[in-house]
Amino acid sequence: MVKLAIIIGSTRPGRKAEAVARWVYQIAKKRKDAQFEVVDIQAFNLPLLDEAVPPSMGQYSQPHTKAWAAKIASFDGYVFVTPEYNHAPSGALKNAIDYLYAEWNNKAAGFVSYGSAGGARAVEQLRLIMGELQVADVRAQVMLSLFTDFENFTTFKPAAMHENYVNTMLDQLIAWAGAMTVLRNK
Ligand SMILES: Cc1cc2nc3c(=O)[nH]c(=O)nc-3n(C[C@H](O)[C@H](O)[C@H](O)COP(=O)(O)O)c2cc1C
Repeated sequence: MVKLAIIIGSTRPGRKAEAVARWVYQIAKKRKDAQFEVVDIQAFNLPLLDEAVPPSMGQYSQPHTKAWAAKIASFDGYVFVTPEYNHAPSGALKNAIDYLYAEWNNKAAGFVSYGSAGGARAVEQLRLIMGELQVADVRAQVMLSLFTDFENFTTFKPAAMHENYVNTMLDQLIAWAGAMTVLRNK
């Protein structure tokens, strides 16, 4: 069975990302075809990238990098829960992604985004980044609106239809994460 991380993509005080990630987890854990874990970037206390050698060389020196690398290496795929900041993912998420290389390679990813336009533009940028990291990103994505899925733009109250979208995204992600394990084991 594949193991998937649900990554909380914001470290901002008062962030919405945690409520969204916990909601994804509640839907995901009803499934019997994969294992899920919420992974909070904030818990790893990553400063702005402070490794001297590019991550693609795999020579990590800092304890926080080693801890983050071990956590990310332990999964077959990822659900990135991402806000949209200036039409992009948060700096915190981009920084956390940039820290590693081989740990992401030949894995799969799906996206849950939120913003005034459903976070769509942040995910378009994440898809470009995934290409560079050799991550297969699935088509189905969950786009939550600040206008209709958050009461007063604050309290997360997702429309019921989004549960189906989460499961469609997970269907694709679990299939691709499984396929990528075959590639990694070659
Ligand atoms: C620096 C910054 C830039 C933002 N830019 C956008 C944007 O381009 N598009 C958008 O839909 N929302 C934008 N927002 C609003 C965020 O979507 C909203 O604040 C959301 O709650 C951020 O996610 P978080 O609470 O999990 O950090 C921006 C927010 C911040 C803090």
